[in-house]
Amino acid sequence: MGSPYDVLGLDADADEDAIVQAYRERVKAVHPDHGGSIAEFKRVRRAYEHITAGRDPATFEADGLDGGSESDQSGSTESRTASDDDRAKSDDEAENDPESGLGPTVEYLDYAVVESRGWSLTDEDLFEKAEAADLGVDSHGLLVVESRETLLEAAERYGFSWPYACRGGACANCAVAVVEGDLEMPVSTVLDDDLTDRGVRLSCIGEPVTDDLKIVFNIEHLPGLAELRLPAEQFGNARADD
Ligand code: FES
Repeated sequence: MGSPYDVLGLDADADEDAIVQAYRERVKAVHPDHGGSIAEFKRVRRAYEHITAGRDPATFEADGLDGGSESDQSGSTESRTASDDDRAKSDDEAENDPESGLGPTVEYLDYAVVESRGWSLTDEDLFEKAEAADLGVDSHGLLVVESRETLLEAAERYGFSWPYACRGGACANCAVAVVEGDLEMPVSTVLDDDLTDRGVRLSCIGEPVTDDLKIVFNIEHLPGLAELRLPAEQFGNARADD
């Protein structure tokens, strides 16, 4: 199991500078883009959050059962607990420290892969299957969303070309299915209650409100969404996948 200090390769009496430095080095070394795994990336991130939140190292669970961000993905504002307070404290510290490198982590998966492999958005092990399939980074991977950045903006910062048209919440071209965690949309949108209840969100205006999310992008042809799409040609810089 180990302590969060072990995960970061630190002594238990490491000072703040050493913790930040170790986190930066470890998170870079285990990032999936650099040959690491998503599970290891999340373990390092959890360890750093656990230490900076001031939690007891003995309560750290490397697999994410320690009351940290991994177990708090519902987006609910109810039942606030001590661990919620810890996380809020951690988030505040991260916001006040622009060099901390922390931001919501989004694991993404292309719906084209889900369709072609006969998987379903409701498969409980959807992302485990994606991990095992060893897909290319365009189809499956991790990205970190920066403060006040929408999911679409983050994807584009990583060099991805996810679909969009209006970029203002007026169509469904940029829709994603949120499988875990949540994206908050600041304005009312074209999406009806049925779609939002099914986890559909608009990436062009959606900002993460949970530390970890799992989303499927490229879902604009799903039933209920196709009729909400706008022809990409109406927008000079629109990006369509079809
Ligand atoms: S691109 Fe139109 S709602 Fe996002």
